[in-house]
Amino acid sequence: MREHLIKAEKLTKVYKLPSEEIKAVRGVDLEVKNGDFIAVMGPSGSGKTTLLDTLGCLNRLTSGTLEVFGRDVSRVRENSLVKIRRGNMGFVFQNFLLIPSLTALENVELPLYFARQPQDRKKIIALLEKLGLGKRVNHLPKELSGGEKQRVAIARALAISPKILFADEPTGNLDTKSAQGIFNVFEELNSDGMTIIVATHNPRLGSQADQIIYLQDGNVVPKEESSLYG
Ligand SMILES: Nc1ncnc2c1ncn2[C@@H]1O[C@H](COP(=O)(O)OP(=O)(O)OP(=O)(O)O)[C@@H](O)[C@H]1O
Ligand SMILES: [Mg+2]
Repeated sequence: MREHLIKAEKLTKVYKLPSEEIKAVRGVDLEVKNGDFIAVMGPSGSGKTTLLDTLGCLNRLTSGTLEVFGRDVSRVRENSLVKIRRGNMGFVFQNFLLIPSLTALENVELPLYFARQPQDRKKIIALLEKLGLGKRVNHLPKELSGGEKQRVAIARALAISPKILFADEPTGNLDTKSAQGIFNVFEELNSDGMTIIVATHNPRLGSQADQIIYLQDGNVVPKEESSLYG
C-alpha cells in the first residue's frame, strides 16, 4: 500500500482582514499518497493557491485537520511548520522567482544552502541536464526563455529531493510549446515516483494528472459544476 503523505479533513482557510473575513477554502477533504499526481483546477479566486499553500505548510489552516507526513499540523507553531516544510516540500511558482544575479546553477544550489544540505555540483548539473538545461547551466535568468526559466525553477524545487512537489500555475506565463515541455517534465518526474500537486487553468496539464480536484468558491465540486474560467 502506498504511504499517506497528506490527509486533510474539513480543511478550512479563512483570511481575516480588518474589514472582512474571506473563506478561501471551505471544508476540503483530501488524501495525498506517495506517487500521486493531483491537479487542482477551478476559476480565478476559487482557492487553488490557498489550498496548495496550506497543504504545503506555507499557510496555517484555520480549522479542520491536516496531517502531513503522519504529523498533525493543525496546531503546530510557525517554526515547526518551517521544519516540516524544509527538505520535504518543493515549490514552483508561476513567476519563477529566480534570483536575477545568479546563474541557473547557482539558483538551483541556493535552497540546499538554506536547507543546510550538502551542495553536490555534479548532482545539480545532472538535474539541470535531465531537465534539458545542460547547455544553460551558467546562464543568468535574463538569458533564458520562459520555458527554460520555469525548468530552472523546477530544478530548484527538486534540488532538496522533496517528498512532494507543489506547482502553482507552472505554465501560466508560457506559450503552448514551452507549456508542453513542462507537462512532459512533470509526467516524467511522476513516472519516476515524484508526488506532484499542481494548480492549473490548463486542461491539458490537468488531464495528465491521475486525479483532478475541481474547486469553486473554496469547495470541492463535481466536474460538471466547475467553470474553469470564472
Ligand atoms: N493573503 C490573502 N489575504 C486575503 N485574502 C486572500 C489572500 N490570498 C487570497 N485571498 C482571497 O482568497 C480567495 C482565494 O484566492 P486564491 O489565491 O487561493 O485563488 P486561486 O484559485 O489561486 O486564484 P487564481 O486562479 O487567480 O490564482 C480569493 O477571494 C482571494 O481574494
Ligand atoms: Mg492562484
